[in-house]
Amino acid sequence: MIILGISEDFFDAGVTICNDDQILFMSNEERYTRRKNEGGFPYLSLENALKQTGLTWKDIEGVCVSGFVTPFPFFRLFPNLQKKAFVSRREKNQKSETYWNNITEWAVSYNPISYINPSEGMKKNLSIILRKIIRKRLPFLPPHIPIYFIEHHEAHAWGSYFCSGYDEALIVTADGMGDGLSLTVSKGQGNTVTRLWKSSAKSSFGLFFENLTEVLGFVPCRDEGKLTGLSAHGDANKIKDENPFSWDGDILLYKGPYGKKLRGWLLQLLSKYSREDLCAWSQSILEQTICSLIQYWLNKTGFKKVTVAGGVFANVLLNQRIHELQEVEELFVYPNMGDGGLSLGAICSQYQFYPKSLPHAFWGDCFSNDDIKTAIVKCGLPFKELDSQQIFSFIAECIYRKKIIARFYDKMEWGPRALGNRSILCDSTMRDITEKLNDMLKRSDFMPFAPALLDEDAEQFLVGYEKARHAAEFMTCCFQSTQKMKEQHEAVVHIDGTTRAQIVKKENNPTFYEILKHYKNLSGTSVVLNTSFNMHESPIVRTPEEALQTFIESGLDYLFLNNFVVAQIQNGVNDNGKHTE
Ligand SMILES: [Fe+2]
Repeated sequence: MIILGISEDFFDAGVTICNDDQILFMSNEERYTRRKNEGGFPYLSLENALKQTGLTWKDIEGVCVSGFVTPFPFFRLFPNLQKKAFVSRREKNQKSETYWNNITEWAVSYNPISYINPSEGMKKNLSIILRKIIRKRLPFLPPHIPIYFIEHHEAHAWGSYFCSGYDEALIVTADGMGDGLSLTVSKGQGNTVTRLWKSSAKSSFGLFFENLTEVLGFVPCRDEGKLTGLSAHGDANKIKDENPFSWDGDILLYKGPYGKKLRGWLLQLLSKYSREDLCAWSQSILEQTICSLIQYWLNKTGFKKVTVAGGVFANVLLNQRIHELQEVEELFVYPNMGDGGLSLGAICSQYQFYPKSLPHAFWGDCFSNDDIKTAIVKCGLPFKELDSQQIFSFIAECIYRKKIIARFYDKMEWGPRALGNRSILCDSTMRDITEKLNDMLKRSDFMPFAPALLDEDAEQFLVGYEKARHAAEFMTCCFQSTQKMKEQHEAVVHIDGTTRAQIVKKENNPTFYEILKHYKNLSGTSVVLNTSFNMHESPIVRTPEEALQTFIESGLDYLFLNNFVVAQIQNGVNDNGKHTE
């Protein structure tokens, strides 16, 4: 049975196509519009999903859409308004309080509908209206095909539980807001998910961090990760003001102000404390609350495995604290943890699939060698085609010779991380590599880079990796670095000694595994620096043309597109594919 999943919201719109519980394709709108975390209805993702899978509208046998009152139905009715809302949220800053900023702020923070978690009766009635709206968006969908709606946090919960492969687990979801909620706890057993506890969007860590991001001059709903990076440079104990969140085992209470007033209060704090200390304080409040909540529910249910989803779990330090908890035997973090992952979650919830361990994240667009060759010839750079074994050893050799290379291979990653198919790779022992990469890619100097390494070597470099081994395949969790990691690979260790490592397994990522294996034979270590293939603030590259454009713009040394090696004009490649500079 071919099923289409759709997530549409202010942010991270996307689609999934499954054949029963087999995933065929997953992608997000940002990769097509080239605006990070693009919201609205995912028209382009849909078009590409059908193109990439070779399916037609006649093949679709069911449609699952996430959200009843998220996005706000008025915005759903007028998709252009939704786009405007996305842009206004994005461009929001202290200096420009535009008309649209105010409307969107009202819709998100003050509109009473935003805080309603629909009852079963409401869901039924809303489905009738929403079905009509969605059918209009899908004019080629045969009229007899059913369209189902799944509550926002239910979709988050099902997605993460399904991909964890656990037979039973505690499922925690946390975000800004979704269908009136910001935090839920559920138990997953077999192919059922039962909600145990929920918390209103009025007490939302996601919205708190969104406002703090804005106050610090970053882009809300995009740059929250920068706060995590900054928190390592600060001291939470320096903040003497009262923690606005409290949790008593039953109710999560937020006593602070909202919207403009919240930003005013945060600005006041910023006048007294450094941004680093403020970030460290916020991070510690988040960690303490979420960890206590998880400990409480693990003790209550007797479960040992935890799976998490929702934008709040993009926070890799929080995920580290969770897997380090004594009560946690294993942690899985949904690879596309934000709303970008709702399209798969909606399908899993509707059809109640039994959990299967997600093997990899390579579910996106793929281009033929002909497409790639045409793009290379068009851009006029020197290139060579090699066989697979030559390519693996040449990539390894380039990294060993301190070259910075980009790899564009087969299917694009789903979710925020580049895991080898749209990655920039280089030697992580180079002392000046952070400055060099920041300069080439126009990135922030306080954001740490991350390593990729072979699964069999992980124990030498990461403390306690076993508990988050599966999550680490998707680079969604930090680990404390061992002394060896700190001494040998300084470039991928953050100031607090943590590292957001990707573990590469032969069975799940065989070509990247081969490259690291070759690199280890040359250098004695399998640890390389792996960062996403994009310029700063842009989504990860999708097409060969975007890869070539980014390669030229950044001035990286070599670009590998499937079996083609491309050099900068001044370098060139000879008949063996070796560099000629
Ligand atoms: Fe969400």
